[in-house]
Amino acid sequence: MTETKQGTATLTVDGKTIELPVLGGSVGPAVIDVRKLYAQTGHFTFDPGFTSTAACESDITYIDGDAGQLLYRGYSIDELAEKSHFLEVCYLLLYGELPDEAQMKEFEGHVTNHTMLHEQMTNFYRGFRRDAHPMAIMVGVVGALAAFYHDSTDINDEMQREIASIRMVAKMPTIAAWAYKYSIGQPFVYPRNDLDYAANFMHMCFSVPCEEYKVDPIMARAMDRIMTLHADHEQNASTSTVRLAGSSDANPFACIAAGIACLWGPAHGGANEACLNMLREIGTPDRIPEYIARAKDKNDPFRLMGFGHRVYKNYDPRAKVMQETAREVLELVGVENSPILQVAQELERIALEDPYFVERKLYPNVDFYSGIVLNAMGFPTSMFTAIFAMSRTVGWIGQWKEMISDPNQRIGRPRQLYTGANERAYVDVAKR
Ligand code: CMC
Repeated sequence: MTETKQGTATLTVDGKTIELPVLGGSVGPAVIDVRKLYAQTGHFTFDPGFTSTAACESDITYIDGDAGQLLYRGYSIDELAEKSHFLEVCYLLLYGELPDEAQMKEFEGHVTNHTMLHEQMTNFYRGFRRDAHPMAIMVGVVGALAAFYHDSTDINDEMQREIASIRMVAKMPTIAAWAYKYSIGQPFVYPRNDLDYAANFMHMCFSVPCEEYKVDPIMARAMDRIMTLHADHEQNASTSTVRLAGSSDANPFACIAAGIACLWGPAHGGANEACLNMLREIGTPDRIPEYIARAKDKNDPFRLMGFGHRVYKNYDPRAKVMQETAREVLELVGVENSPILQVAQELERIALEDPYFVERKLYPNVDFYSGIVLNAMGFPTSMFTAIFAMSRTVGWIGQWKEMISDPNQRIGRPRQLYTGANERAYVDVAKR
């Protein structure tokens, strides 16, 4: 941990003045250290939604929301999406540096050797209804890993933490693909260790036992890029959920299951599914003004899905890469002029010129184009968030591991501004 003291902030409350340390990281806003605030003043800070709160120290991912910059361990997402590949990014996120050839080979070997699921888990899948949402299955199956892999649940054992991490990165494509296969009534397809991570996932989703399936390299590259773009994103809602769950020393499988549950919401990872449904509903460019008007109407709960972000007040750098990927994939499947892409591009153009969106700095986020790509690749909308969860797992694990090894780590326990009744006497039911 490398924070440095940069100065002090002075706070006067109820006539009492105290000094609070100001700590600086390597880049980005400094923080006012309020850890002793309650002891010194009897006051809490109040920040619903954590808009001004740094909940932890981290050296994994950095976002400059005003500049539209995203770095994994200092490397820009654009460069990684262009030059790296997902498993190398996994190594970078988990261990802090890019691997040399031998390290990469060893890591790939570990991941490849853990892609299968305990055979008994097939019975577990069969307990779900066929029409269950893949995210419901993911939450259940990932949580249940703790029941199948007892030898990697001791969070105080570094080796067990490592094995659990590798297991989750390795098994997540199998878990997600099987959720899909189950939902369409096809047999589970076992992983193929001669394929790379992305191609293996596509093979498990789209191959059937009765005929040969060849993964198109352009499709596999697009899938790899989607995974890279989603791999980590600093202290977002699901990552914070993983950290909070892990702060009680819960086992890693339970923590990641908690992250998946949080990601499911349409304000977070569920936005890719909601965005494609919205684009389909709009259907043709002439209906865009109607939807823009609804998004601006404060009496209408409708929001432009795939637009806006808590941190980015500029174009989401992931959305740029995703837009390029969308073009490549649509060209490959021969629908470069697809009505959905036309609606998306026109919607983006109109929104970016509209004062409502300009003033609020609302730009397309990663989910605006990812649904179009995944749809063109053949995935149903219900799988979009499951693919996000699969890709984000490595980020969650990296953040969880960082938290466990942080000497300052304590159980997360926010406080509140209580606005309920004061103590009062119980009234017997006959007298109420
Ligand atoms: N459509 C219309 N208005 C919006 C939108 C939108 N998509 N996003 C924000 N606003 C307005 C909002 O109504 C508010 O206006 P006002 O100041 O007049 O009250 C202002 O912009 C600020 O919004 P906020 O809700 O205070 O911002 P937030 O930081 O709490 O929410 C967000 C961020 C991502 C939840 C939100 O922008 C949103 O709901 N977007 C749509 C869902 C979406 O695309 N989510 C994916 C996020 S990226 C992937 C991920 O990280 O999971």
